[in-house]
Amino acid sequence: MNILITGGAGYIGSHTCVAAYAAGHTMTILDDLSNSSPESLNRIETISGKRPRLVVGDIGDRSVVRSLLDSETFDAVIHFAGFKAVGESVAKPWEYYQNNIAGTLVLLDEMRKHGLYNLVFSSSATVYGNPDPKNLPLREDAPLAAVSPYGQTKLWLEDIMRAMAAADPNWHILLLRYFNPVGAHESGLMGEDPNGIPNNLMPYITQVAIGRLKELTIFGNDYPTRDGTCIRDYIHVCDLAEGHIAALRRVAELPGCTPVNLGSGNGVSVAELVTSFEKALGRPLPHRYGPRRPGDAAACYADASRALELFGWKTKRNADDMCRDAWNWQSKNPQGYHTK
Ligand code: NAD
Ligand code: UFG
Repeated sequence: MNILITGGAGYIGSHTCVAAYAAGHTMTILDDLSNSSPESLNRIETISGKRPRLVVGDIGDRSVVRSLLDSETFDAVIHFAGFKAVGESVAKPWEYYQNNIAGTLVLLDEMRKHGLYNLVFSSSATVYGNPDPKNLPLREDAPLAAVSPYGQTKLWLEDIMRAMAAADPNWHILLLRYFNPVGAHESGLMGEDPNGIPNNLMPYITQVAIGRLKELTIFGNDYPTRDGTCIRDYIHVCDLAEGHIAALRRVAELPGCTPVNLGSGNGVSVAELVTSFEKALGRPLPHRYGPRRPGDAAACYADASRALELFGWKTKRNADDMCRDAWNWQSKNPQGYHTK
């Protein structure tokens, strides 16, 4: 297939490009490089022996999207582009609504005007809000709620896509709800490269390990979980990338708009992840326990059975693999891509 990948220079997008080449697809990336480095394309090329065409532009810039879709015929779009930091979205809600919502509306409009109706969209487990423990593991029909402007953008975009697909039977949309993507390509050439001090657990851990940060604070050890720390469904970014390829194989056959969880189905606690990481590191990771982080759910993990049923896909890599590959990436690239 010939695929348009918005946000393809970013963390999940770049790993998906590698998986897409391995599956024999061709691709063009549309990315404004607002949160990524073109260096990721060099790394894709080193691993795959092929380099995607990069169009540097904003998904909300109609002239860019129109001329790209005029100039080339695509079989499907994988839409990663968007801002993704929960805390930043609270401080800059307008920027999140503008970039994620307004940008996606332009993309969707140009897609339908060009007869391009196959879409794989990056949604998030954030659409489940702060889940009621009785709904765990989370099935796709669990109640939905937004707990931040970022989460609101994902929920509204899902609603918009559901309504558009209900009104026009041409659409084939897969709403992929990612749980907690972590890890890096096993080569150590590609990985997560956040700006500033990371908010998310794994990049924080790797930056403590490399000495850029002093110690990890584990937010809370008094949750009603097996060891008192929060439980999440971590998914290796290469499993996630392969999940997109499995989704692409089915998108044209699945009419309407279908939400699908991409998670492992296993809950791992923060303390367990730290232990796995220490195994990869070969020494203790400096850490301490601190107060709970406001807004955190005690536990959040997927029922991953729909992805298996629809796509024949499930995760292959465990927490030890995630930690080994995250540390391999960070230790080989102490400053990330360092070219943003
Ligand atoms: P990322 O920031 O690494 O990648 C996003 C890419 O989109 C970046 O390369 C950025 O430059 C680009 N971009 C942003 N706005 C753009 C615009 N208007 N036009 C063109 N390009 C634009 O993030 P990621 O972790 O790879 O996430 C990809 C998608 O997955 C996002 O939509 C995110 O919300 C979603 N998601 C991520 C996670 C996670 O924990 N990483 C979890 C759930 C969902
Ligand atoms: N944590 C710590 N210390 C840290 C950072 C995180 O103990 O320094 C803990 C958190 O309290 C939480 C767990 O590690 O219990 C995971 O936290 P992350 O910030 O890595 O991930 P979240 O589950 O909070 O959020 C992630 C994405 C969101 C998305 C959400 C649901 O960052 O974008 O999953 O999918 F909305």
